[in-house]
Amino acid sequence: MSQAFGKVAVLMGGASAEREISLLSGNAVLAALRRRGVDAHAFDPAQRDLWSLKAEGFARAFIALHGRGGEDGTAQGALETLGIPYTGSGVMASALCMDKWRTKMIWHASQLPTPAWHILKADTRWQAVADELGLPVFVKPAREGSSVGVVKVTRAGDLRAAYEAAAKHDPLVIAEQFIEGEELTAAFLGEQALPLVRVVAPGGNYDWQNKYFSDETQYFCPSGLPETAEETIQDLVMESARLLGCRGWGRVDLILDAAGKPWLLEMNTVPGMTGHSLVPMAAHAVGIDFDELCARILAQAWLEGGLLDLPPGPLPKEGGDGGSRAAPARQGVDLPPGSLPKEGGDGGSRAAPARQGVDLPPGPLPKEGGDGGSRAAPARQGVDLPPGPLPKEGGDGGSRAAPARQGGGLPPARNEQA
Ligand SMILES: Nc1ncnc2c1ncn2[C@@H]1O[C@H](COP(=O)(O)OP(=O)(O)O)[C@@H](O)[C@H]1O
Ligand SMILES: [Mg+2]
Repeated sequence: MSQAFGKVAVLMGGASAEREISLLSGNAVLAALRRRGVDAHAFDPAQRDLWSLKAEGFARAFIALHGRGGEDGTAQGALETLGIPYTGSGVMASALCMDKWRTKMIWHASQLPTPAWHILKADTRWQAVADELGLPVFVKPAREGSSVGVVKVTRAGDLRAAYEAAAKHDPLVIAEQFIEGEELTAAFLGEQALPLVRVVAPGGNYDWQNKYFSDETQYFCPSGLPETAEETIQDLVMESARLLGCRGWGRVDLILDAAGKPWLLEMNTVPGMTGHSLVPMAAHAVGIDFDELCARILAQAWLEGGLLDLPPGPLPKEGGDGGSRAAPARQGVDLPPGSLPKEGGDGGSRAAPARQGVDLPPGPLPKEGGDGGSRAAPARQGVDLPPGPLPKEGGDGGSRAAPARQGGGLPPARNEQA
């Protein structure tokens, strides 16, 4: 099998804020693939032009880049253009998942649970956000990872400073309702949901330090959740990935509240593969060691472009997606084996989702859809995105009913793996 992959580039490093972690991930993957006899080579797009991959005879790419410039659809687009199959999600899903705000809107529109949110801008009425979401809130740059720029704010007076700190990383900043509960992360490999990992960080603070460098952060896999709860969450995770169009592998972060309700935080399309990383931990729990995990991810390398060449003939069988609205002629995309569940059967046939209310900014009404509404406004259908660039994004906030927020207890963990 190893020879069948040809010459493989392990893309690592890059120029994002997560460069350091990507180098750890990439080097671990590189070593694993070499142990499996794969002709694998390190390739850092911050040092070499991606366009040279073709000239250098690379047949496949394992993307171990985290964050912008690697996990966000841009490297995927370059590889599509070069015709070099790559691991993980394609261009659209990678770009979408890089953006926490848009990811949440997809989930919310499909009635999957994600904490209420509010877009922050320099002229946001901070007290109104605090009133709407409750305190504390999490303030985060929409397109960062590894907890970079993520701040838990407990006083309305601190919101502006948190916004300004987050905005240094990304002009698109969200405030998110705090969900108190158990931190879980859930990986998938192809169509297989891996066991949940429960994370217990010192002081409940799963920041950069506690993610990658602390020995005090505890990881439980098996999670200690009852089997039915675990399976329900795994189903939710597969559905959340399918809605976003993810493929190959990925990892969802979520919080389980005291009432036992899971809340989706974000989707990682190139999760960490370091010694502390959670996907390898989850895979290990089902007998897939690190080398095998890397080989399986590589084996699913693909080019989505070819799949979009629609065959002539009748509409595909995937129907059901979006069926409740005026049904357009849908042209499906047949995913290759090893992909996530079929895209059809989408929640589109369900009742219209409750649209998040939106806090209007002072001044004139927003020009067109996407914003508007009010906290009192209950159900709105669809998500009308403004056509404009980033600054127009503001105003779209979130205010669903607050979930139960008391701390929750899980049964004691049966096993611990760090
Ligand atoms: N709404 C929230 N409620 C509770 N904890 C949160 C919330 N949002 C983020 N966190 C905490 O912050 C961490 C990082 O947030 P996350 O959305 O996963 O961003 P990233 O991992 O990309 O930095 C989470 O793992 C969790 O510990
Ligand atoms: Mg996360």
